[in-house]
Amino acid sequence: MGDTAKFIVEGKEVESPILKGSVGPDVIDIRKLYAQTGAFTYDPGFTSTASCESALTYIDGDEGVLLHRGYPIGQLAENSSFMEVCYLLLNGELPSAAELDGFTRTITRHTMVHEQLSSFFKGFRRDAHPMAIMVGVVGALSAFYHDSTDISDPVQRRISAHRLIAKIPTIAAMAYKYSVGQPFVYPDNKLSYAGNFLRMTFGVPAEEYEVVPAVEKAMDRIFILHADHEQNASTSTVRLAGSSGANPFACVAAGIACLWGPAHGGANEACLNMLREIGTPDKIPHYIERAKDKNDPFRLMGFGHRVYKNRDPRATVMQKTVREVFDALNVQDPLFETALRLEEIALNDPYFIEKKLFPNVDFYSGIILSAIGFPTTMFTVLFALARTVGWVAQWNEMIEDPSQKIGRPRQLYTGPTQRDYVPVGQR
Ligand code: CMC
Repeated sequence: MGDTAKFIVEGKEVESPILKGSVGPDVIDIRKLYAQTGAFTYDPGFTSTASCESALTYIDGDEGVLLHRGYPIGQLAENSSFMEVCYLLLNGELPSAAELDGFTRTITRHTMVHEQLSSFFKGFRRDAHPMAIMVGVVGALSAFYHDSTDISDPVQRRISAHRLIAKIPTIAAMAYKYSVGQPFVYPDNKLSYAGNFLRMTFGVPAEEYEVVPAVEKAMDRIFILHADHEQNASTSTVRLAGSSGANPFACVAAGIACLWGPAHGGANEACLNMLREIGTPDKIPHYIERAKDKNDPFRLMGFGHRVYKNRDPRATVMQKTVREVFDALNVQDPLFETALRLEEIALNDPYFIEKKLFPNVDFYSGIILSAIGFPTTMFTVLFALARTVGWVAQWNEMIEDPSQKIGRPRQLYTGPTQRDYVPVGQR
């Protein structure tokens, strides 16, 4: 028997096995603890709890390392393509040239959505947040594909995964088009995944849309940077929803709902709004003081992370990409200077040093997306688009795992103990 951890609960000693991953912290397997002791463990926010076994993504938060199937995110962002990263996440290995070609063709051939799906958009108010539209319309996909609802069949699961990855840019672009009152643009299968998305978003029937290669590259890189990120809140939501055997499109819609919050994917939108509010570098000290004040709900958006206690490696790539996009589009944004200065000031402030708060992926992404022409309300939609592959890869891994049960946490109950009902006239 390998290493064990000992628990003494009300005088009774029990041993729990310690599991070892290929890298990273050991994990105490407490699955039998309740049966052995009658006690639960308590970990709101899952700060010390591994909820599953996974071979997809690894983060070393102290060192600022992020690996997808073992490959560092910086190398993938520099040398790979989003299609290749999707293949890698779904299949475990990088594809050969022929495999990549075949996979790209399959995804491309699924980019159209059922024409009837367009009717869903009309049910939304014109000023609806595009994330609200995404939650609804992606959930609605579950009503369209009755040929792939048997989640115990790996082939059907694969088809659902391909459909989700292929259709999410089309739906995201439609959400944008609806919000600006322009006609939906159909996919053009001659274009790349990122190029197609840009054309469906910014193209109009009256004019030929030219994809700017540097912007297409930046878009593809942003998708790579967001592809997967271990057991974050939205991924855990997708897994929890899927653990009951729910339809994959509905599970991804649940993930989108969770991603929307400002502590998670909504931070990119909140971060750009914050930078706009700060405006010029001379206002930074005031906002730094607010972020440090416990009585003020203001937080520095795009800063801090549950896992990274060092610079988020994705933020480094993002910062570099800002300059590339600015050069390609020949634009400048004074907010970039404000962001750089804010980072510098925060990283030299004892509060941020002590709490190990560094820029995360969202700190610079908004500046790039804004330069490309996206309104802030679309930022989290782009995150959802890119994270869809991570969600389906994790969902699929969960279903293949024979030890996975329905997710059903327990609780520390602090409500009233049993009491008798009192009729309304006697209260
Ligand atoms: N500004 C000011 N103080 C902060 C910040 C911040 N951005 N982030 C954390 N802190 C403080 C927090 O007040 C707490 O202080 P204390 O120990 O005195 O109570 C300490 O740092 C630890 O923070 P926490 O909230 O307990 O940590 P957490 O792991 O629960 O939260 C977080 C992580 C990302 C929600 C949080 O850092 C945050 O709200 N950041 C701003 C939002 C943001 O940028 N989110 C994007 C995350 S990356 C993209 C993604 O995964 O979606």
